[in-house]
Amino acid sequence: MKLTIEDVRSRFIKHFDGTTGSVYASPGRINLIGEHTDYNNGYVFPGAVEQGIIAELKPNGTRTVQAYSIDLKDRTEFSLDDEKGPSATWARYIFGVCREMMALGVPVEGFNTAFAGDVPLGAGMSSSAALESTYAFALNDMFGGNKIEKMELALVGQRTEHKYVGCNCGIMDQFASVFGKKGSLMRLDCRSGEYAYFPWNPKGYKLMLVNSCVKHELAGSPYNERRLSCEKVAAIIGKSHPEVKSLRDADMKMLDEVKTEITDEEYRRARYVIGEVQRVLTVCDALEAGDYETVGKMMYETHYGLSKEYEVSCEELDFLNDVAKEEGVTGSRIMGGGFGGCTINLVADELYDHFKEVVKKRFAEKYGKEPIVIDVVVGDGSRKLC
Ligand code: GLA
Repeated sequence: MKLTIEDVRSRFIKHFDGTTGSVYASPGRINLIGEHTDYNNGYVFPGAVEQGIIAELKPNGTRTVQAYSIDLKDRTEFSLDDEKGPSATWARYIFGVCREMMALGVPVEGFNTAFAGDVPLGAGMSSSAALESTYAFALNDMFGGNKIEKMELALVGQRTEHKYVGCNCGIMDQFASVFGKKGSLMRLDCRSGEYAYFPWNPKGYKLMLVNSCVKHELAGSPYNERRLSCEKVAAIIGKSHPEVKSLRDADMKMLDEVKTEITDEEYRRARYVIGEVQRVLTVCDALEAGDYETVGKMMYETHYGLSKEYEVSCEELDFLNDVAKEEGVTGSRIMGGGFGGCTINLVADELYDHFKEVVKKRFAEKYGKEPIVIDVVVGDGSRKLC
């Protein structure tokens, strides 16, 4: 069921002093193509979804933040002036955003807040970016006179992940959450910050997410390790090709030149990234030509790379990808960081209902429970609701 303002407001009233504050929302995201390219300075192609976080906030005249997570039924408080902050992960996101906004000169004061979300957790749909963006946007509006630009709000979320949660993520999720626009996907150049909106209304196709419900946890080391491998390979290539500052600048020939200086694992990881940077560009051209077969083919190639070269898949996700292929789905791949979560599928209209049935049935037969199918509706980015 769709989360509403009332769901949050009723809890805010109950858990605080009975008054109301201001309500803000930010979405989770999908990504058509361009996975693990953001921290390699390449391109990504995300869009916001309708699911997200809704939070109510009201200044409380102190230096303390009183926060209530409606979904977890957990309450905590922290001082804005305490450098350590709370220990609960959900609260660390809010704490990190407060501290990073203060570092930008926003005179953040204490506030009461309650929030809830309908982005499935650990599904690779960026529930944490939705949380960060909601508070970055809200604090900018409530205390900062909206002086901080949107890209900086996204960077506040990213720094929160790096410094307070331990995930060295790229900028895609926070960018998509802040900048999302109903009906449009966005292509972002993660090096220059340039972006363009692409209206998403493919004739004859729809996007479907299939959530394996295998929970992924990006704050752990596997994600950060991959990022380190990429940076290491780029630095080695850069010794003989100074123009290569990150893997976005490298090609397969350069990678082959350094093959003996790196491990097989590093080679495979870099190979995936170099291929993926190109695939995003191929997809952009294909979209302009209305060529969805090519878009789909690139998605399958991405899945192969994420599974066999970057090694961020799992058995359940590979199975979902196989079912899609066998059923004639145009494109399918792991979405987001990997290690669990969803596949994103480009499905022809006439196959949509059939595939939904079959994928649920076959997954349930094998793993004992149905995956959750999510129809994608591309929604708006961070905003004030009331
Ligand atoms: C996670 C990170 C992003 C990005 C994706 C993979 O969602 O937060 O920055 O790296 O994984 O594309």
